[in-house]
Amino acid sequence: MSLRNYHYETYKHSIRVAKLSYNIANIMQLDIKEKITIYKGALLHDIGKVMIPINILAKPDKLTELEYDIMKLHPKYGADMLEVLTPLAYLTSTVLYHHERLDGTGYPYGLKIIPFGAQIVAVCDSFDAMTNDRQYRKAKSAFEAIRDLRECDAKYNQMLVSALENVIKTNTKAFEKNRESNGIAI
Ligand SMILES: [Fe+2]
Repeated sequence: MSLRNYHYETYKHSIRVAKLSYNIANIMQLDIKEKITIYKGALLHDIGKVMIPINILAKPDKLTELEYDIMKLHPKYGADMLEVLTPLAYLTSTVLYHHERLDGTGYPYGLKIIPFGAQIVAVCDSFDAMTNDRQYRKAKSAFEAIRDLRECDAKYNQMLVSALENVIKTNTKAFEKNRESNGIAI
């Protein structure tokens, strides 16, 4: 089962998050090997969602508490999938920790010390979720989303939020085009 076939919205989201994550890794001057690792980890960050029942994953309304608890299993499912695929096992930490937050309020473990790649994906993942419509709420503008990430300064690495702001400012046209095309044209 591919994520593309299972839930196309999550597939498109993953491509957008991967592109943004790569751009941030570039601004942070990581070496090419690390940049590619972050790009691939971001591409697969939500792969565990293929194990989430489609009636929960594609639910148009807000999730109930129980449904949300099931949804929160996806980082662990994704990590379990990658761990058995030996050539991709090195991407496990990015997938497993992308919902952890620096103040310890994230999941699955409530970590406060989070691998750098997972911190980059966390910022880009939240930004992409905020700047795209959900059926129960409208998308925010890029700059509203950045402001929200700044307000959550205990949760997100603010150096990475600044890097994201740079990426958006220097690529505003590409970002808008990317959004219009759902992230799969460029
Ligand atoms: Fe996720």
